[in-house]
Amino acid sequence: MTAKRRLIIGMTGATGAIYGVRMLQVLQGQEQWETHLVISSAGVVNLKHELGMKRAELYELADVTHGINDIAASISSGGFKTEGMVIAPCSMKTLSAVAHGFGDNLISRAADVVLKERRRLVVMPRETPLNLIHIRNMASVTEMGGIMFPPMPAFYSKSDSMMAMVNETVGRVLDMFGVDVAGLYTPWEGL
Ligand SMILES: Cc1cc2nc3c(=O)[nH]c(=O)nc-3n(C[C@H](O)[C@H](O)[C@H](O)COP(=O)(O)O)c2cc1C
Repeated sequence: MTAKRRLIIGMTGATGAIYGVRMLQVLQGQEQWETHLVISSAGVVNLKHELGMKRAELYELADVTHGINDIAASISSGGFKTEGMVIAPCSMKTLSAVAHGFGDNLISRAADVVLKERRRLVVMPRETPLNLIHIRNMASVTEMGGIMFPPMPAFYSKSDSMMAMVNETVGRVLDMFGVDVAGLYTPWEGL
């Protein structure tokens, strides 16, 4: 049996819980992937507020779940092999922690590990407008090899629903890890 490919998904208290949820849904249907989910307390608040979803319902979408304060979890060590991590959505607070190597919870610690092991880190920062420290923190993470992927819809796709826009963003992020995203959105092929 081939080993499953592991992807860590961190969800924080920025608006856009749907991005993390949709990502887990897409990966749930793919046998070769194993998702490791960790959500912050503020993330749980937004999950309830934006989607009417409880933590337990979210947990059903993941293969493995970890507590935000479980700094002894598997994903807190580089010895535990993963393909990388997506933080979807990423608050400015967590972005700051990642940019400064402040691993005081399992999301910032796991991201720190992914960066030190030179694995793929995709951060979906969400705030507007941005102040200078937000921009500097994004630059720092980019300098360390992380990928800033702000969830900004592309209007050229002429999506007819909010879910279509979410699917396109989620599809493009997962595509970066080599996940099969066929059918999730239509890639641009020119005019
Ligand atoms: C409804 C709601 C929406 C929020 N949206 C954002 C946001 O888009 N970006 C952000 O940086 N913080 C946002 N926040 C604030 C964060 O949740 C807060 O800074 C929190 O401490 C982040 O902690 P975490 O990164 O550990 O989840 C929002 C809070 C609430 C209640």
